[in-house]
Amino acid sequence: MESQLALELVRITEAAALESARWIGRGDKNSADDAATTAIRSHFNTVPMDGTVVIGEGEMDEAPMLYIGERVGNRKGPKMDIAVDPLEGTETVAKGLNNAISVIAAAPQGSLLHAPDMYMQKLAVGPKLAGSLSLDDPLEQTLAKAALLLDRPLTDLTVSILDRERHRSIIEVLRQAGVRIKLLGHGDVMAAIDTCTEDSGVDLYIGSGGAPEGVLAAAAMKCMGGDIQGRLLPDSDEDIERCKRMGIEQPERLLTMDDMVGRQGVLFVATGVTSGDFLQGVRYLPGSRAETHSVVMYSETKTVRFVRSVHQLKEQLGTLAQAVSF
Ligand code: FBP
Repeated sequence: MESQLALELVRITEAAALESARWIGRGDKNSADDAATTAIRSHFNTVPMDGTVVIGEGEMDEAPMLYIGERVGNRKGPKMDIAVDPLEGTETVAKGLNNAISVIAAAPQGSLLHAPDMYMQKLAVGPKLAGSLSLDDPLEQTLAKAALLLDRPLTDLTVSILDRERHRSIIEVLRQAGVRIKLLGHGDVMAAIDTCTEDSGVDLYIGSGGAPEGVLAAAAMKCMGGDIQGRLLPDSDEDIERCKRMGIEQPERLLTMDDMVGRQGVLFVATGVTSGDFLQGVRYLPGSRAETHSVVMYSETKTVRFVRSVHQLKEQLGTLAQAVSF
């Protein structure tokens, strides 16, 4: 069941990647996002599931497609919660930079946190540190503990964080501690995933990013044996109200990975739009073909599958209208 659903979902992220990749470097993040969203929306109803979008393009009054609460799938399969970011890294695509992906997570109904669109403070680590660190501890203590557990001096630890003004004081603490720092432009789902892959050389991802991206990252971390903790950062009474409307009674409380994705099996699929260390981006090939690279993971089996697909493109009116995998 999971593998069939996973393959259906990856077909959809592939379609979104193929569409949004047409916008690489064109300085138009909205069109890139629209292209990905339209592709995902138009393929969703063929998927054998009764899905409800819990994380999508926004609330019903602000998003025409993939809004929170929208039913997706052909209603003939299991009831599922769906978290979808048609294009994670809109600015990344607009500027032609690395690590933009199209991503979907799916879990049995009631599993995924309905995260409002606000910032979330995050701490993500790979399998070797999973279960050992706490977002509640002072950062200096967390770094010292991580170094001890990894049996390395602090100077050999690498921490990634979004390069933002709001992180200035955290970056100062990292510099004082002497760790190596990877300052990121965008894309904290991939940043969290990086902590689970030895090749990346990244040990911890910290700082604040989007709350919806936190849930997507939690799905991936659960599949890869890593860990992520988060704390929502509402900055107004209205934000607190939004949390409560979405069923989060104590917005300030620490959220564990299970709080974000539940205890049942979660599927995570993503397709590279632009290239990164983990996933290659869309490549156009001679003969109206294109190649995509995706990852498909399932938390119950901890299987991480890489899918390389070659698509025959059908050009219509000068734009990529449909892609057929073979
Ligand atoms: P978009 O794809 O919506 O542009 O998000 C990119 C992203 O970098 C996320 O990965 C991250 O969670 C968030 O933006 C950080 O927000 P900000 O750019 O406001 O710091």
